[in-house]
Amino acid sequence: MKIAILPGDGVGPEVTREAVRVLSEVAAPFGIELEFTEHPIGGAAIRACGDPFPDETRIACAASDAVLLGAVGSSEFDDLPPAERPEIGLLRLRKALGGFANLRPARAFPALIDSSPLREEVFRGTDMMIVRELLGGLYFGEPRSAVGREAYNTMRYTRDEIERVARVAFETARKRKNRVTSVDKANVLEVSRLWRSTVEDVAKDYPDVELDHLFVDACAMHLVTKPSQFDVILTENLFGDILSDEAAVLTGSLGMLASATIGGRIDLYEPVHGSAPDIAGKNIANPLGAIASAAMLLRYTAKQPEAADAIDRAIDRFLDEGHRTLDIARPGENVVSTSEAGKLAAQYAVESANVAHAYHAV
Ligand code: IPM
Ligand code: MN
Repeated sequence: MKIAILPGDGVGPEVTREAVRVLSEVAAPFGIELEFTEHPIGGAAIRACGDPFPDETRIACAASDAVLLGAVGSSEFDDLPPAERPEIGLLRLRKALGGFANLRPARAFPALIDSSPLREEVFRGTDMMIVRELLGGLYFGEPRSAVGREAYNTMRYTRDEIERVARVAFETARKRKNRVTSVDKANVLEVSRLWRSTVEDVAKDYPDVELDHLFVDACAMHLVTKPSQFDVILTENLFGDILSDEAAVLTGSLGMLASATIGGRIDLYEPVHGSAPDIAGKNIANPLGAIASAAMLLRYTAKQPEAADAIDRAIDRFLDEGHRTLDIARPGENVVSTSEAGKLAAQYAVESANVAHAYHAV
């Protein structure tokens, strides 16, 4: 498999380095052959060649089996208009790869339950998957414009765009707890009424999956009052952006969470966190979100669930044994660096792989 690595900005290079380390080490025991190439995106690419999504990067990604991205965004370019900022590099990448379903899992890690801003009895047992539509809505809707003292964007969806992402949500629910909560603002927006009626039509093909609807404001509230009620949350692009940050931070740290974008020509994997410029280059960022994204890559693109499980078990063991990066450490706890965290995760993943192999051999 050819994997294009796009480290990007801020902590992106540090966390992707550790994800590549874990991937490289876990590949061998499973007989998976991985080939990595590295390409610029975002602010790093603007600095290198004046374009946040250079042709070289686009061509390399198109020739890969999957793309693993670090983070995009740099305050150095804060004064630029949206169309020239680092973030547009990420949006152009997403569009070029074509993946429309962004899967963002968020679950309560038992070892981190004390780090959640929620009370333990509220958060315990939470395990959800947000399915965020990634190629439509306000991010890409036309018309859009900023002229003088007026500016606008358009939340636009077609039935086909809603239907294809809804199918991913229902299929995902079938592998989980068979429940989909579709989130919209159908009490106000026409586009949300189309969203809701389309999702209801798709649901007829999945009679075994329970569907309910929530307005986005209510969903934001339920995420903090009863998060464990959710299984799969299906929602449009901007609502999903906001709700997934909210869900992520409930787990203790944004740094922990992974994402996969599927359904297009090339699958894209990236941690949910941003470039965190305040801690960049200090070897203190949490690489577990990037490492968990690498596990999703093995699960969804490489179709190597055992290798993915080995990485996920390594993350659990890392936490269970009390290792903490700065973002999840509580006073007095022993803090490991980004690279130490990556080395431990790689070691545990390989050990877990060997145990799994020994088990298969008997
Ligand atoms: C995310 C990020 C991006 C988004 C930004 C960096 C464009 O916040 O992946 O959630 O809004 O999609
Ligand atoms: Mn976001």
